[in-house]
Amino acid sequence: MVAGYRTVVAYNHQDITVADFCATADSLTKAGIKTDVFSGVMGPVMNCIGNIGFIIIAVFGGYFSMKGLISVGVVSAFIVYAKQFSRPINEIAQIYGQLQTAVAGAERVFAVLDEETEDKSGGTLETGEKAAVTFQNVCFSYEAGTPVIRDFTLAVPNGKKVALVGATGSGKTTIVNLLMRFYDIESGEIRINGQDIRDVSRESLRRNIAIVPQDTVLFSDTVRNNLKYGNNSAAEEQLTAAVEMSQCRDIIGLLPQGYDTVLTGFGENIS
Ligand SMILES: Nc1ncnc2c1ncn2[C@@H]1O[C@H](COP(=O)(O)OP(=O)(O)O)[C@@H](O)[C@H]1O
Ligand SMILES: [Mg+2]
Repeated sequence: MVAGYRTVVAYNHQDITVADFCATADSLTKAGIKTDVFSGVMGPVMNCIGNIGFIIIAVFGGYFSMKGLISVGVVSAFIVYAKQFSRPINEIAQIYGQLQTAVAGAERVFAVLDEETEDKSGGTLETGEKAAVTFQNVCFSYEAGTPVIRDFTLAVPNGKKVALVGATGSGKTTIVNLLMRFYDIESGEIRINGQDIRDVSRESLRRNIAIVPQDTVLFSDTVRNNLKYGNNSAAEEQLTAAVEMSQCRDIIGLLPQGYDTVLTGFGENIS
């Protein structure tokens, strides 16, 4: 809501937004109070139980010692032991809330740690100036049971430009994701110059492919560093050529520090 502030205001959604926020804040407050009550009550309750035990020992101990069955020393020793026994339990009860918080936090940390790392193995992609790309009977699904790509075959010869046209959700981006090996295919094969991309390391594959994503990504860095993102060792001429090709020479010319202008907040300081 904060990020989309202008839209909120433009459509007079302030009241609805405030109401939504209040509802969320209220439920957070209720949950917070519940948490504090539960964790706060644990200590006193355990203390109380400990004291009840104390009373039981005093009553029965007193009775038995008056009857002469046990000595007063035994009773006092028993009280000391009972206290020693209940103290650690009490302490655990005191930090029960903290333990719960730690367990919840640990769950999230372990979810991240359990995530599989990307396989870095594989050979290098043999490329010349140009490359032929073929998709052969490719099948793929993001979630098992709902296939997105079914038996897709495509041959892109050297130097050909191919456009994938289709309705939203038909799988155009998915084809690119598969070619970049952001995901691996289920069956079939994808080859570049006859080389199966699964035999090629992801690093080598991606070094040879340039991708322009749907949403523009600009890093909070200088214009120059953003331009050189794909090739850090690019020479000045290559940089100029890229700027010409992407028709942003005039825009960069208007910036106060030109190539050295620092873009902030994902490039929101340029139009
Ligand atoms: N990361 C993902 N997880 C699960 N399903 C996805 C994911 N990305 C895309 N999809 C689904 O795959 C289908 C194809 O999506 P996509 O390739 O993005 O379509 P297009 O680019 O042609 O609009 C859609 O039904 C979409 O909901
Ligand atoms: Mg898409």
